Amino acid sequence: MKVINTIAALKSLLEPIKLGQQKIALVPTMGALHKGHVSLINIAQQYADVVVCSIFVNPTQFTDPKDLEKYPRPLEHDMQMLREAGCDVVFMPSVKEMYPGPENWHIDLGPAEFLLEGEFRKGHYQGVTQIVKKLFDAVNPDLAFFGQKDFQQVLMIENMVAYFKLPVQIISCPIIREDDGLAMSSRNIHLNAADRKNALVLSRALSYVKDHFEEKTISELLQGAKEMISEVDGVELDYFTIANGKTLLPENNKNQSDLVALVAAKVGQTRLIDNMLLN
Ligand code: PAJ
Repeated sequence: MKVINTIAALKSLLEPIKLGQQKIALVPTMGALHKGHVSLINIAQQYADVVVCSIFVNPTQFTDPKDLEKYPRPLEHDMQMLREAGCDVVFMPSVKEMYPGPENWHIDLGPAEFLLEGEFRKGHYQGVTQIVKKLFDAVNPDLAFFGQKDFQQVLMIENMVAYFKLPVQIISCPIIREDDGLAMSSRNIHLNAADRKNALVLSRALSYVKDHFEEKTISELLQGAKEMISEVDGVELDYFTIANGKTLLPENNKNQSDLVALVAAKVGQTRLIDNMLLN
């Protein structure tokens, strides 16, 4: 496994591979890797000859400086996981390497940028798409792999790819969960024992919606899910919605295809998100 820190070194490693017609996959991450990240690497390996995983805690996508500061950075553990996963290249640039000077550019990501996570984390998706664009420029991948766990993020990246007409295929990969249903997340390590138990209500509420989708109306489903969450002390709901998977606007018509239930809540001090496809 090669570990690379600069864009120049990455390009000189990857350009001959690209010229040799081999397929390159990129899996962007912020480290603190878990089985969800590893699943992306494993899926990428099925599509491509060379898999590049980037680890970069991107400052421009954090709206809360404290969140950035306390973001976990277990480097040795990450390297071990990537070696075990058979990752070919790890790209770990410094902040200076990715942001050599001030930048004020803006991408039109469409109206969904400002909904859901975009409403609670102003500017978040500008930061995400900015760094993903820079990573695409550095790696020039044929394919890039993202988790459906961050449903809106995948949509924003697809919009960014369409906006710049980038020659990269975006693959959305299934959510990996703990055995009890909790969606894996780098933030889960901040949950204490009580939070960890309380957090289960998020996946339970999503499963409730999915399991009762045929026999209940959307407003009954939403009411049921929100009630389940409100009954758990220590869980503060930001939103629970059933939305169109492309526009992210709330949907009242169950006969529409592409519906998704999305939830965000603060569990103790930790903000968690999760979602489930409904049809
Ligand atoms: P990060 O939170 O590290 O996640 C990296 C990738 O792993 C994302 O595509 C995310 O959706 C995916 N992922 C996280 N948890 C998952 C799970 N339980 N199952 C499946 N996939 C999961 O998302 C980011 O980093 C950043 O915003 C990034 C795209 C790297 C840009 O900075």
